[in-house]
Amino acid sequence: MRLAVLGGKPIRKKPYPRWPIHDHTEEAALDRVYRTPTLDESSRFAEWYANYCGVPYVLPTASGTVSIELILRALGIGRGDEVILPPYTFIASYAAIRFIGAVPVFADILPDSYNIDPADVERKITPHTRAILAVSVGGRPADCDALGAIAEKHNIALIHDAAQAVGATWRGVSIAAYGTAAAFSCQNSKNLTCGEGGIITTTDAVLHETLRVIVSGGDDTHIGVRAGINGYCAGILNAQSARFPEQLRYRQESAAYLDAHLAPLGYVSPMPGDPRVTSNAYHLYFIRIHEDKLRGVTRDRFVEAVVAEGIPLTTGYRPLYATPGVNEPHNTPVTDYVAGHEGAWLAPPTLLGTPDDLADVVRAIEKVYDNLDALREV
Ligand SMILES: Cc1ncc(COP(=O)(O)O)c(C=O)c1O
Repeated sequence: MRLAVLGGKPIRKKPYPRWPIHDHTEEAALDRVYRTPTLDESSRFAEWYANYCGVPYVLPTASGTVSIELILRALGIGRGDEVILPPYTFIASYAAIRFIGAVPVFADILPDSYNIDPADVERKITPHTRAILAVSVGGRPADCDALGAIAEKHNIALIHDAAQAVGATWRGVSIAAYGTAAAFSCQNSKNLTCGEGGIITTTDAVLHETLRVIVSGGDDTHIGVRAGINGYCAGILNAQSARFPEQLRYRQESAAYLDAHLAPLGYVSPMPGDPRVTSNAYHLYFIRIHEDKLRGVTRDRFVEAVVAEGIPLTTGYRPLYATPGVNEPHNTPVTDYVAGHEGAWLAPPTLLGTPDDLADVVRAIEKVYDNLDALREV
């Protein structure tokens, strides 16, 4: 019915690239681990990642969620302690805090990056605050300068939830090297994936050693939980990592194309750039939809029509506080607006499409805009 509304055929019938991209090297890795389970694929991956990010300590883990949780635990954060995070993120950022008994406190996001707003973080600090969990949403680093300064001033930890941000840099330095520690995800949708997996990075030797002990099951001083990556997943990461730098470059080139073609439209726009963001990892490509320019058509209806044209666009996160089971107080008007009226993103593999695939995104958006009146009538 939606297609009939806009008339003619949908812009696209072909699917976007399938993810993850893989070949015989993944199979060879699984075979290698199966035949020789003593092979240390995890250390090999850690070495590659440390080198790639320019960070001294890397700990491959079972998931991004467990990585956040273990960093919090290793820092001695627990019951009653407050951790500040943005409400515009995946539920795992919140769950990790709740799971260790700490109290999640929401700070608002910035309208021109959708990342946590340092000024609001500062307003939300209380004597109980122990950490900031800064999400690099979509793969774009949160403001490392301002957040680092706040953490230092208040003597609290700065943990980067870089689950979506493998490959992201701020002022030329990997997000892995900022703050107290960073947590990455290698879950299936992520840009560097092994199905389920995670990575903890830090520049702090003592914290790394504590985490290493915890992740290997604990010792006389630390209660642990065996939460290291398994050999099969590490083997797959070793295969995926060979392709990763080129895939990141390709995603960034695609994002630049979309930026250039969406910016002139006016009724939608790309996220503005920031010279301090020297590498956006582009797990998600955000498109801001300007409802006030859609002559009465809502963001939701607009996105629905673009989807009907065969483009994998979604309206993105609902705020965490609107998630069933999350019942936290909040005063976050930017998040309310972005989640309800403006935010949208392209499914992660879209940026790995051909130039023609990307042109289809722009064509579909233009087609929907050209048919706004028909859209409003349904
Ligand atoms: C922002 C964010 N934080 C945390 C996670 C949790 O990672 P995982 O799924 O590897 O546990 C994810 C992704 O799933 C995420 O997108």
